[in-house]
Amino acid sequence: MEFGVKSGSPEKQRSACIVVGVFEPRRLTPVAEQLDEVSEGYISNLIRRGDLEGKAGQMLLLHHVPNVLSERVLLVGCGKERELNERQYKQIVAKTIQTLNETGSMEAVSFLTELHVRGRDTYWKVRQAVEAANNSVYTFLQLKTKKGEPRRPLRKMVFNVPTRRDLTLGERAIEHAQAISVGVKVAKDVANMPPNICNPKYLNEQAASLVEQYDTLSLETIGEAKMAELGMNSYLAVGRGSANESIMTIISHKGAADDQAPIVIVGKGITFDSGGISIKPSEAMDEMKYDMGGAAAVLGLMHSVAALNLPLNVIGILAGCENMPDADAYRPGDIITTMSGQTVEVLNTDAEGRMVLCDALTYVERYEPDTVIDVATLTGACVIALGKHATAVLSSHNPLAHEIINASEQSSDKAWRLPLWDEYQEQIESPFADMANIGGRPAGTITAACFLSRFTKKYNWAHLDIAGTAWVGGARKGATGRPVPMLTQYLMNKANIALDE
Ligand code: BES
Ligand code: MN
Ligand code: ZN
Repeated sequence: MEFGVKSGSPEKQRSACIVVGVFEPRRLTPVAEQLDEVSEGYISNLIRRGDLEGKAGQMLLLHHVPNVLSERVLLVGCGKERELNERQYKQIVAKTIQTLNETGSMEAVSFLTELHVRGRDTYWKVRQAVEAANNSVYTFLQLKTKKGEPRRPLRKMVFNVPTRRDLTLGERAIEHAQAISVGVKVAKDVANMPPNICNPKYLNEQAASLVEQYDTLSLETIGEAKMAELGMNSYLAVGRGSANESIMTIISHKGAADDQAPIVIVGKGITFDSGGISIKPSEAMDEMKYDMGGAAAVLGLMHSVAALNLPLNVIGILAGCENMPDADAYRPGDIITTMSGQTVEVLNTDAEGRMVLCDALTYVERYEPDTVIDVATLTGACVIALGKHATAVLSSHNPLAHEIINASEQSSDKAWRLPLWDEYQEQIESPFADMANIGGRPAGTITAACFLSRFTKKYNWAHLDIAGTAWVGGARKGATGRPVPMLTQYLMNKANIALDE
């Protein structure tokens, strides 16, 4: 979709549709007021008759409003003025886009960016509107034979900003939002792809075609033979039960001098997690195709980073692998020597993500990174702790944790920190090996992070558990593309610091 910004009065816009807000109960926003005046009370008349209460998300489409140049006016309920918050703003924008998409307006001018959202400026409102619009028109129809797309879909949306001085800010917001949306879409597409198509090789091919598009990007592929040479026995153990080869894909973005230490983002890429020999129950097992949500986010993120051409060196790792039960599969009781030399007693083959990530996290030591962040659909316990709304952040490096939480707030891509205290380390002790791969039911998200922490001593590290946020289940099942917005924001912030220095 195409976006633009403008600053002008509503009645003079020549568009298929203009979008203006109405508060509850039946109170016109200043812009709606303006239209009401030029149309000699047309709008207030309708509202008085009870056509629109103004409840958040209510829509009323009007045609040929007197003295208004646009063909249509869409009145959008915005709820009580004082109660308008970030979440409601995003929901209202999404609903508006949906309505425009279904009612034949191929372009529209929206005045919703003039609503007052506490603590947020024009930049934020435009950026969120663009991201919400892109999210709301997203579909995954590649594998349907009858696509059922709207006949006259919305193609262009222009946001009106209060003054001409806001135009540059608005344009920046659109540019940033579009770069983020590209990453989100890439992440959603690859995550929604079924596991019979999306295997580690497919992830590698997607990365290869991304790298083709940008000069700053380059690709490296580590297959099973190379992993064996490197001693990545833990990563290999997980993939041993699968007919699909384990492949670790490395995407590098070179945006700064060679001597600038890179930021490395590692994504868990289990393209299907059956649990292995510790097999999962069959209910909703299909959703374990999303167990590569971390790798999907890293692929999307690298697209965003390249699109923004950030002046940083960033390395994205897709830790591709499939966890299946098989005669050759790894088993509970096995003791494995990881690439780091530390040994792990496997107590549950379904705790496979950490087995793959620990070797990937050792591998990245060679980059002498400034910071390493891993992103993983790592624990069901995370969904129990935080539900579907927040990504869990775990780090023993306070400044890094704060930077991530800040980026999360700026980008409205929710995250919440959990503790990573030493006390929890005891839970993963093993009588036979250096550690066990599970720590029992209490604090499962934290003990998983404790496990990873033992492989990340050589750099500043944070772990993001996206088990609750990478996709939504139920009737509207689908990948979310999270946490691409938060991570892109984190890197954008890093880039500004680098520019100032
Ligand atoms: N991929 C799962 C975690 C998961 C489960 C994410 C459900 C989202 C929804 C992970 O590999 C796993 O199976 N974890 C186990 C760990 C346990 C064996 C310690 C879990 O959470 O049950
Ligand atoms: Mn598992
Ligand atoms: Zn898993």
